[in-house]
Amino acid sequence: MLLEAKNISKKYNNQPVISDFSFTIDSGDIVVLTGRSGTGKTTLMRILNNLETADSGSLKIEDTPLFEQTERGATYVSRKERKAYQSKMGMVFQDYALFPNFTIRENLLEAPLSQKLGTREELNAKAEELLTDMGIVDQLDKMPSQLSGGQKQRVAIARAMMLSPKVLCFDEPTSALDRESADSIGKLIQGIAQNGTGILIVTHDTPFGEKYGTRLISSSEFIK
Ligand SMILES: Nc1ncnc2c1ncn2[C@@H]1O[C@H](COP(=O)(O)OP(=O)(O)O)[C@@H](O)[C@H]1O
Ligand SMILES: [Mg+2]
Repeated sequence: MLLEAKNISKKYNNQPVISDFSFTIDSGDIVVLTGRSGTGKTTLMRILNNLETADSGSLKIEDTPLFEQTERGATYVSRKERKAYQSKMGMVFQDYALFPNFTIRENLLEAPLSQKLGTREELNAKAEELLTDMGIVDQLDKMPSQLSGGQKQRVAIARAMMLSPKVLCFDEPTSALDRESADSIGKLIQGIAQNGTGILIVTHDTPFGEKYGTRLISSSEFIK
C-alpha cells in the first residue's frame, strides 16, 4: 500500500465536510473521486497535499506520516517529517499553475534544482526525457503563453514528475480540454500509473473517470 488515509474528519464553521473517511491508494492505482460540487473533494485533496489541515484521523505515504490520530485529534508531524511526506506527494493543479515568466525548461527545473535533487545537467536530461515521452520536447524553450491548453497540462504533469512522487493528485484534469485531448491525458496518466505511481483524480467528468479509473470513489461517502 502506498497511501493510507484513516478516519479523516474536517469541519468548517462546525459544519462537517468530511467525517470519518478512510481510503488507500496502491502502486499503479488510478483512484477517481467524483461527486457533486460542494461535497468536499477539493478539501480532501488539499488535506492530502498539506494545503489544509484535518481535524482528526491519520495519513501516511509508505511509512512516512503527515499526521497521526492522538487524543488531541489529527497531530501533525515535525516540519522535517512533513517535508519527507511532501517529497512523496505530487499535485497537478486545475489551472496548471505554471510560472508565466519562466520558459518550460525553467518551469521543470526550478523545484528539483532548489531541492538539490540533481545537477542542472542531470535534471535537464530528465526534463528532456519526460517531454520526449509526452511528445512536446520541441516546446522546452518556449514560454507557457505560447502553448495550447493540452500542452500546458503536459508540462504541469512533467513538472510534477520531475520530483518523482510516489502519489500524484490531479484536480479536474480534463475541465479545460476537448474529448480528444482528455483521452490523450488519460493515456498519459495510465502510463504514469503503470510505472508504479499511485494516482488520485478528482473530477466532474464521470465518463473520463469510468474509462481511466481503476477504482471509483464518490464524495457521497465522505459523510455517512
Ligand atoms: N476555507 C473554507 N472555509 C469555509 N468553508 C469552506 C472552505 N473551503 C471549502 N469550504 C466549504 O466546504 C464544502 C466543500 O467544499 P469543496 O471541498 O471545495 O467541495 P468540492 O471540491 O467537492 O466542490 C463547501 O460547502 C465549501 O463551501
Ligand atoms: Mg472542487
